[in-house]
Amino acid sequence: MDRRDYHPVSIALHWLMFLLFAAALLFIELRGNVPKGSPLRDVLRGWHVDAGLLVLLFAFVRVGSRVGFGGPKPIGPRLQAAAASALHGVLYLVMFLLPITGVVFSQAGGHDVALFGWTLPHLVAPNPALRTSVRDVHELLGNAVYFLVGIHALAALWHHFVVKDETLRRMTFKHK
Ligand code: HEM
Ligand code: HEM
Repeated sequence: MDRRDYHPVSIALHWLMFLLFAAALLFIELRGNVPKGSPLRDVLRGWHVDAGLLVLLFAFVRVGSRVGFGGPKPIGPRLQAAAASALHGVLYLVMFLLPITGVVFSQAGGHDVALFGWTLPHLVAPNPALRTSVRDVHELLGNAVYFLVGIHALAALWHHFVVKDETLRRMTFKHK
């Protein structure tokens, strides 16, 4: 469904998703700076998983909100708008693929995966080869997020400050 602006629920979910991604990335980066053997490493890993699983949960709500309420087409020349739509599609995919690969490689490594202490059922049995390959995919995608969201955010700023169109404003609550 096309509409001229984003539904407030879609706007709220967009920025919630931004915060959850920032939290997941911050916790895993901090973990890298904590010496091996310190209990803080496991705490940060747990918080990374909590934030990541919330991404998955809200990804379903977000797609529901986008399909149910609709949203506007990107502003700009045809090719540029098509590139924006394609990048949005990739970002939606990543919201599902990152948490799913995270759960699969953790469980294939024999770890329990829990959301705020609630342990998820095991989808895969321990399997070291699966763990290594899916972890590689998770790390690749996780690192690609900096690049993808970076381009996405720069494009939004370019629309706002250079082209001076409605793109960034319509993703806020004060655009009317
Ligand atoms: C500083 C960070 C960010 C800024 C400034 C930003 C800005 C925007 C803006 C202005 C739009 C509207 C585009 C339009 O109307 O054509 C948009 C849409 C979108 N953003 Fe972001 N965003 C940011 C972070 C993120 C993150 C972290 C994600 C997810 C990983 C994300 C995913 C999306 C998606 C999927 C859409 C398309 C929505 C739709 O039409 O269905 N954004 N963003
Ligand atoms: C949107 C959600 C997520 C993002 C953006 C994300 C991103 C990342 C990134 C960037 C890394 C570091 C990669 C590296 O060291 O180069 C990482 C590692 C990791 N992620 Fe995620 N992740 C997400 C969700 C999850 C989930 C849901 C789980 C588990 C259920 C998970 C489990 C892990 C674990 C255990 C590591 C450490 C890997 C290791 O050092 O052995 N992640 N993630």
